Amino acid sequence: MQFVESHGARIPQIGLGTMTLKGDICVQAVKTALQVGYRHLDTAWFYGNEKEVGEGLRQSGVKREDIFLCTKVRETHLEPDKFRQSLDESLANLQLPQVDLLLIHWNNKDIPFSVSIPSLCKAKKDGKAKHVGVANFTTKMLDEAWAVTTEPLVCNQIEMHPFINQDKVLAASKKHGMAVVAYCPIARGKVPGADALERIGKAHGKSAAQVSLRYLVQMGVCPIPRTANPDHLKANLDVFDFKLDDAEMAELKKLNATNMRVVSPPHAPVWDTP
Ligand SMILES: NC(=O)c1ccc[n+]([C@@H]2O[C@H](COP(=O)([O-])OP(=O)(O)OC[C@H]3O[C@@H](n4cnc5c(N)ncnc54)[C@H](OP(=O)(O)O)[C@@H]3O)[C@@H](O)[C@H]2O)c1
Repeated sequence: MQFVESHGARIPQIGLGTMTLKGDICVQAVKTALQVGYRHLDTAWFYGNEKEVGEGLRQSGVKREDIFLCTKVRETHLEPDKFRQSLDESLANLQLPQVDLLLIHWNNKDIPFSVSIPSLCKAKKDGKAKHVGVANFTTKMLDEAWAVTTEPLVCNQIEMHPFINQDKVLAASKKHGMAVVAYCPIARGKVPGADALERIGKAHGKSAAQVSLRYLVQMGVCPIPRTANPDHLKANLDVFDFKLDDAEMAELKKLNATNMRVVSPPHAPVWDTP
């Protein structure tokens, strides 16, 4: 496993996404993932599966300190009391005293950063989160958040796959020394079957999904693919033994022009345009 470092956080470069994984499927996916070598788990209060993620973590037998676990607070809970309530509920669900990374899941335009960011920072000061960060922040939001934060924001979690151009927000995140965590790295199933990805995969003896993950790894970001399929779990980790050359990276970069977002935000942020 490779790591991406940011402001003292050491993030395993491939993580397991868990959105939509529920019940025993989630427990088994988390357990199997950790047993085959994953060390980074991504959940959220909103996913309604933190209990199962915690259970899978315990059943895996992997030491807690070897796992990098992220959860998130929804945009409806960014004021101090609601924020604390949401985080305490997450920790109770997970049956853990601390998460490794706590994110603001989405900004809320009706709650100023002077309110939401101190709520986030308090979680770190209280020892409930080792590191804090944000998700779905645009370049403008990043600058505004950094202007008021008292703790380093170690990551921006954003949608990234070959069919979207995130160059501006990537550069802004890097300017602030933040790691970028890439959600929907398989574009919710739209990567398998895509011509260029399949062809490049064939040349390396890899699948289109592995090519997408490798493309993101070579961009220096941390993809968090979601699957409960044991074969896919293993395949998604198996992306460190081949390299895409400059021409292949350029061909995949061209697909950015597809301009396809697979996630609709809960409200309407003004995204950075390419
Ligand atoms: N911060 C945010 O606002 C936000 C938003 C969306 C997502 N996320 C996080 O990012 C994670 C990943 O995003 P996502 O779950 O939306 O989409 P995703 O990981 O891009 O796509 C999941 C789909 O990819 C398929 N897949 C996974 N590995 C595969 C492989 N090796 N070969 C073929 N197909 C494969 C899965 O099918 P199988 O089940 O058949 O393997 C599943 O249908 C989420 O689970 C969540 O943790 C965060």
